[in-house]
Amino acid sequence: MKQLVINAFGGPEQLQLVEAEHPPLASNQLRLKMHYAGVNPIDAKTRAGLGWGAEAIKDRLPWSPGFEVMGEVLEVGSEVCRFLPGDRAFGLVAGGAYSEELVVNCDDMMPLPDAVADDMAGGLALAGTTAWQGLTDHGCLQAGERVLISAAAGGVGHLAVQLAKDLGATVVALASGDNHDFVKGLGADEVVDYHDDAAVSAIEPVDLFLDLVGGTSGKSLLSQVKPGGRVITVPTITAKEVIAAAGELGLNASGMLKENDHDHLALLADAVAEGRLRVEISKVFDLADGAEAHRQIESGHTRGKLLLRG
Ligand SMILES: NC(=O)c1ccc[n+]([C@@H]2O[C@H](COP(=O)([O-])OP(=O)(O)OC[C@H]3O[C@@H](n4cnc5c(N)ncnc54)[C@H](OP(=O)(O)O)[C@@H]3O)[C@@H](O)[C@H]2O)c1
Repeated sequence: MKQLVINAFGGPEQLQLVEAEHPPLASNQLRLKMHYAGVNPIDAKTRAGLGWGAEAIKDRLPWSPGFEVMGEVLEVGSEVCRFLPGDRAFGLVAGGAYSEELVVNCDDMMPLPDAVADDMAGGLALAGTTAWQGLTDHGCLQAGERVLISAAAGGVGHLAVQLAKDLGATVVALASGDNHDFVKGLGADEVVDYHDDAAVSAIEPVDLFLDLVGGTSGKSLLSQVKPGGRVITVPTITAKEVIAAAGELGLNASGMLKENDHDHLALLADAVAEGRLRVEISKVFDLADGAEAHRQIESGHTRGKLLLRG
């Protein structure tokens, strides 16, 4: 079976398509035919040798990226009763989704409702879980509150806009001009171009800021948060500096790391099935074109999600 791997940290060209052995199946695992794997910034950061992801795998190269997958069950381990061969499944995995076939823990996967298309499910688990947990578990967003979402047109942001609206919040979304119609179409109440300093300064104070850019951008937007308001800064690499700056302003700030949660995956799949949530797929790449997909995600200007096709 074909698999994309890196043998060393570096640029997108490090991604090599190789012929890999079919991995053995443990009793609590599923063998999955990958239909779609989501491409996320963490894949590219880890490939480049940055952050906690790279630290975790630096002694385990070659490594295949890919932390979310949708596929068809080919085979089930002897203790697995939730799935049968032929079922459609999606979920979060600990790397390795950039493979035609992969072995995953049954507990990490969710069955997919018929009403959810394969490609939408391929881009849902990681960004959707992050958006949901950032807004609710960490951000404690309540109906009627104002929430500011940066990178609102991106993978996490475009789902966060829709979920926040569904929760009854007033959504203030930051995006460049080309994405304004797109973000308004997702339900944002106010859309502001983050390049326009005057427009950003004029944003009425918000209760919660979901920071999806971090660093200088995250710090510069803290002044738009109400006194004593909440900040969830999602990019892990710059979380410390944003939290420190927020603390100096008396804001309640924290970082987060998304967690695999069946209830959250089910809730997201149901929202898609019921038409309350839409995953925007901006481009699908063949597995062999993974390097091109990484160049695109590293541009920092992807609308919605990128997928690899198995
Ligand atoms: N901690 C966790 O568990 C976790 C989980 C998932 C993701 N993350 C992190 O969260 C971040 C967002 O992930 P993602 O998948 O949504 O990324 P993404 O899809 O690559 O985000 C792309 C979007 O970022 C916007 N953008 C770029 N620079 C901006 C700026 N200065 N101000 C406002 N928007 C800007 C772009 O908007 P325009 O095109 O309109 O310019 C584009 O729509 C990444 O750093 C990722 O690694 C963390």
